[in-house]
Amino acid sequence: MSRAFFLVCVSVCGGLLRADEPAADPTQATAAADRYETRRIHDPNGIGKFYMGREIAHVMGFAGAAWLERSTREEEERLTLLIRALRLKPGDVVADIGAGSGVISMLMAEPILPGGKVLAVDVQQEMLDRLKAYCQQLGVENVEPIRGTQKRSGLKPASVDMAIMVDVYHEFEYPYEMLADISKALKPGGRLVFVEYRKEDPAVPIKEVHKMTQAQVRLEAEQPEFGLSWLETVHVLPMQHVIIFRKQAAAESGPAGGSGQQ
Ligand SMILES: C[S@@+](CC[C@H](N)C(=O)[O-])C[C@H]1O[C@@H](n2cnc3c(N)ncnc32)[C@H](O)[C@@H]1O
Repeated sequence: MSRAFFLVCVSVCGGLLRADEPAADPTQATAAADRYETRRIHDPNGIGKFYMGREIAHVMGFAGAAWLERSTREEEERLTLLIRALRLKPGDVVADIGAGSGVISMLMAEPILPGGKVLAVDVQQEMLDRLKAYCQQLGVENVEPIRGTQKRSGLKPASVDMAIMVDVYHEFEYPYEMLADISKALKPGGRLVFVEYRKEDPAVPIKEVHKMTQAQVRLEAEQPEFGLSWLETVHVLPMQHVIIFRKQAAAESGPAGGSGQQ
């Protein structure tokens, strides 16, 4: 089955997720409402909600788990090259945000041993249950499943050396809130990695709302309040960007702190 067809099939599962917690105060609620725009006419593969000019995609439902685990994925996406490019080291605490059934979590679990841990975050309990079952079958003991919400990762502040989102960010229903939350969870100097299908390349056979340009990722991630600066973009994958940001230390994120230059 082609991914394009698959994405249409699973998009119907997008409405099954947990309700979000209310904003803390009424002024926050107003600001949050202004952040997003709803359009009646939109891409059928998107939810009709726009953020910084980009339409948000439907969440891949649990029915997509088998597709994430397909045997051709390494050949198509070269995940081993991705893991090598991350330069993980023993003892690292890494967060796999939108972990799904745990394909990426499992690949990261070994290079961070001894002492390292993968925090596997997802909003769908069925995905986390499947991930847990695989860990048990394979004897992987350093992957911890965490149930997040549409606005919160469930990670503790300043607890993570690296957070990665593989084919996930474009489907966050609340991208601003998620980035604010994830950037808080990074340790100073920690890295945030976006892996997104390249929208600049019409030959990448993925529905438009499931692709992102590098410029759009940078526009959304480099808002000053997140304290993230662009570090590098690694060009090793056949179809996806690997865009890496670094969490600034508190002293860097004031008026004098700047973003990285390409
Ligand atoms: C396309 S799958 C990718 C799974 C995994 N990263 C992989 O590459 O195998 C996207 C996953 O992101 C999850 N997701 C969507 N919004 C999320 C959010 N706000 N917080 C955590 N997970 C989210 C979905 O439930 C789904 O499991």
